[in-house]
Amino acid sequence: ATKLGQTTKGEVLKGYNIIPNFSVETTEYAYEKWSPREGDVFLVTFPKTGTHWVHEIVRQILYQDEEIYKLSKLLPAFLELPLPPCEVFDFLDELPLTRRILSTHMPAELINVEKLKHVNAKVIYVLRNPKDAIVSWYHFMQSLPADMVKDRQHMHSSGWDKYFEHVISGDYPMNSKPGEWYPEHILEWYKHKDYKNIRFLRYEDLKKDLQKEVLNLADFLEAPVSSETAETIAHKCTFDNMKEALSEEHAITKHINMRKGAVGGWKNFFTVAQSEQVDDIMREKLAATDIQFIYKI
Ligand code: A3P
Repeated sequence: ATKLGQTTKGEVLKGYNIIPNFSVETTEYAYEKWSPREGDVFLVTFPKTGTHWVHEIVRQILYQDEEIYKLSKLLPAFLELPLPPCEVFDFLDELPLTRRILSTHMPAELINVEKLKHVNAKVIYVLRNPKDAIVSWYHFMQSLPADMVKDRQHMHSSGWDKYFEHVISGDYPMNSKPGEWYPEHILEWYKHKDYKNIRFLRYEDLKKDLQKEVLNLADFLEAPVSSETAETIAHKCTFDNMKEALSEEHAITKHINMRKGAVGGWKNFFTVAQSEQVDDIMREKLAATDIQFIYKI
């Protein structure tokens, strides 16, 4: 098995190019051999759309007891990390948490959604406007240590315009099939929109009124909080406070992942033509959905 942080050559699973550093072996194990439990919360995101943020909000809602909150730090950052699968899932099953948060960047086809539905697990899908998301990936990839991204060096060392082309042509391994990227990831999960325990959240709505979104999310999770508690959680989960609270132990998250946390920064990178290109792709691909992105607040 690959060790965490060791670069893997991107692997392919059922036609999907898996993000290097994630593991096909762990993903397949989860699909076939592991069973979620009632109470589990699956946090599904495409990279750079607010995973860490929503993870922290959900932790604050579910783990109000300080000891349990500390214990929850042992949850794996992603379900599909390249650690020996038996160890990861045995560990997860033995953790004394009645409710577990399981983050994943995987498309719905690579997650055993029927098993989730069978146990009534909650699913949160975070949406972020694709222009800010692309800018966020761009910076993230550029700031990662070279040995972690060596297989993709050519895709982000030649500047913004080239990077943009790679992403929207679906060349970039994002747990996506060749030629596909974010819209397809959304569409696959959107197929499950009628499942009573799935909720689509927008990053920008959280930015607009976090306290209100915390209250709604807590209700959805069947862990209601008072408005005072929602206010406290919203305060702890602002960009500045979350960044401040991260220790140097989480240096990559603190200095690379917590970049700006804003809406609309894409305007400093996109040309008008690039912006229209993304608008056209999204209009066409998401035509049959009611998804609306928010590009400025
Ligand atoms: P930017 O690069 O635009 O700043 P993920 O966790 O899915 O990798 O997403 C990372 C993005 O979420 C980064 O976006 C990061 O700054 C933003 N983010 C993290 N915590 C946040 C918070 N508390 N409030 C707003 N944005 C946050």
